[in-house]
Amino acid sequence: MAERVLIEPVLVVASHNPGKVREIGALLAPFAVPVRSAAELGLPEPEEPGVTFVANAVIKARAAASAAALPALADDSGLVVPALQGRPGVHSARWAGPGRDFTVAMARVQDELGPRDRSAYFVAALALAWPDGHVAVFEGRIDGTLVWPPRGTQGFGYDPMFLPQGGAETFGEMAPEAKHAISHRARAFARLVTACLDGRQHR
Ligand code: IMP
Repeated sequence: MAERVLIEPVLVVASHNPGKVREIGALLAPFAVPVRSAAELGLPEPEEPGVTFVANAVIKARAAASAAALPALADDSGLVVPALQGRPGVHSARWAGPGRDFTVAMARVQDELGPRDRSAYFVAALALAWPDGHVAVFEGRIDGTLVWPPRGTQGFGYDPMFLPQGGAETFGEMAPEAKHAISHRARAFARLVTACLDGRQHR
């Protein structure tokens, strides 16, 4: 079945994470889709009780679409470390503690990992929800290796310790455009563009 095409003039980015809002805004920049962030609209930050990235993305997108009466795009994403049984996974943000300190979160990954296999991947689930409850979901993934110590000051979250497969620079060292060309979020976004933004005017 063909996905529903986004024809509304404004899209809410259902996130209170400035790093994510910035990246999603950059990904949407080539399309004629003005965005408003959940924080700008004063929308509450919903709990994320889901056990999967998809479940959490759908919860956040539906809550924002219904509160704002506009279509809303949510991203639930995180770092998955197979040697840690998939953790931090859907708890990636929580590992940074109430102060959202990713130096702490990265050190915890490093401590728990010890000498085990350093393979890891980022996952992004994007959910686009409409006020009538309709929702479309798209996923993307990028594989890589965890480095220690962390390198670079670009990006956000676990970027400084993530070296994408075949690359020489961590996400923290890469220029934002280089990360956007290959990231989990960009891959999920490419699928969303094909399904729901097809035909929107390019700037
Ligand atoms: P949530 O989706 O709001 O639960 O938070 C996801 C968390 O995963 C973020 O706060 C980051 O810690 C981490 N994360 C997701 N995407 C990225 C990324 O592109 N780079 C670095 N960390 C990320």
